[in-house]
Amino acid sequence: MTDKLIIFDTTLRDGEQSPGASMTRDEKLRIARQLERLKVDVIEAGFAASSNGDFEAVQAIANIIKDSTVCSLSRANDRDISRAAEALKGAQNARIHTFIATSPLHMEKKLRMSPEQVLEQAKQSVRFARNLVGDIEFSPEDGYRSEMDFLCRVIEAVIAEGATTINVPDTVGYAVPELYGNFIKTLRERIPNSDKAVWSVHCHNDLGMAVANSLAGVKIGGARQVECTINGLGERAGNCSLEEIVMAVKTRKDYFNLDLNIDTRQIVPASRMVSQTTGFVVQPNKAVVGANAFAHASGIHQDGVLKARDTYEIMRAEDVGWSANKIVLGKLSGRNAFKQRLQDLGVEMESEADINAAFAKFKELADRKSEIFDEDILALVSEESVINDKEQYAFVSLAQRSETGERPHASVVFTVAGKEVRGESEGNGPVDASLKAIESHAKSGAEMVLYSVNAISGSTESQGEVTVRLQNSGRVVNGVGSDPDIVVASAKAYLSALNKLQSKSDRVAAQG
Ligand code: KIV
Ligand code: ZN
Repeated sequence: MTDKLIIFDTTLRDGEQSPGASMTRDEKLRIARQLERLKVDVIEAGFAASSNGDFEAVQAIANIIKDSTVCSLSRANDRDISRAAEALKGAQNARIHTFIATSPLHMEKKLRMSPEQVLEQAKQSVRFARNLVGDIEFSPEDGYRSEMDFLCRVIEAVIAEGATTINVPDTVGYAVPELYGNFIKTLRERIPNSDKAVWSVHCHNDLGMAVANSLAGVKIGGARQVECTINGLGERAGNCSLEEIVMAVKTRKDYFNLDLNIDTRQIVPASRMVSQTTGFVVQPNKAVVGANAFAHASGIHQDGVLKARDTYEIMRAEDVGWSANKIVLGKLSGRNAFKQRLQDLGVEMESEADINAAFAKFKELADRKSEIFDEDILALVSEESVINDKEQYAFVSLAQRSETGERPHASVVFTVAGKEVRGESEGNGPVDASLKAIESHAKSGAEMVLYSVNAISGSTESQGEVTVRLQNSGRVVNGVGSDPDIVVASAKAYLSALNKLQSKSDRVAAQG
């Protein structure tokens, strides 16, 4: 009999903690639906006590997701745990994930607590949580840098209090595969009640080993849950990447001998959705989901693949969802076809008026671009102005002049709280002039820390997708905009980032 490997996706919690990756409630809902289509076992929907926004997002996800377990993170205190339980009330299957740091460094410098106090708080929190929800996960934060004897005491105690999953985080990405695998193995061997819980791995990618460490935790340590994110999104260098873990376990079933629930054909659509929503572009040579992951450029490889596919391919592109990238709609497509495609893509709009607004945008785009791909539709509905007319800033129109030897000039019309304004400026190039034109009016004072352009579907006929990352008063946000004209896409991305800066956030950091 083969064991099952539980896939715990934390894109909406640990992934979202990446600077600039914060998502709105609606964006999180859309991604949660895609994660359910992907058939992940557990969706960590957020950290309910961190802000009202996160509470509402967890609650909304708990109310709509039926097949996956919905989880909320919570620090090890009664208030956080109660908030998590409240947000999860509507869930078909709910899990509370509570954590407290156990490494000497974190206990002394961050928590300013003695090991005995930490042990007591961990026990008390799991006991409290267990009275509210049956499925309780406990994480000793910075677990991998904790002292073995102390960690064994904490874990044994929380299992005795009713924790059903024990997750061992390599919070700072310090582990190497063999050592991490043996660390989990030793814990499982030394803790007398270790068989009463499912063991889980949670690895960060600071040294580029998150996937290798997680697999070692599974193979050597016997863990049966992996915590991961789509595209490896996450703080600093990110988390363990879901697509790599899943395809490694599936492709090398001969070695891992584990079963998975995942519908792998949903991997690429999930990757696209997360990258378009957050503005974190996927590198072309990224395993499984990078644009080049299945491209064979060299003549020898092409020849080999044409003769026998498995000469150079260990996975099939269509098995991870690459074939989903097809022309779906065009200029003549009607509203019903558009609505159906939205449903197929998991985009749910709140009202018929929202669908009409999105359809009008689609028609506008189809007039300028003959082939409309799924990515175009997702980009189109990602724009706040389509789905949320309550945003402070919205793009209206843009005119710009640029000529070799002349300094470019731009004039941008946009709305501020529904009122039309115009900004004008010169700049080093048309994009610079357009963003300065917006700033001349918006006066946000934000610093631009990243600007990137990406062709959504690969050719010059494609829409340009622009990401703008702004920083102001310690907050970092990403804005994403798309349009066949990259100057317009840049203006939309800038306004989207300004909208995110506007929405005040009172978030508490999970590892703060
Ligand atoms: O990396 C980490 O330690 C975490 C915990 C909160 C589980 O994300
Ligand atoms: Zn983490």
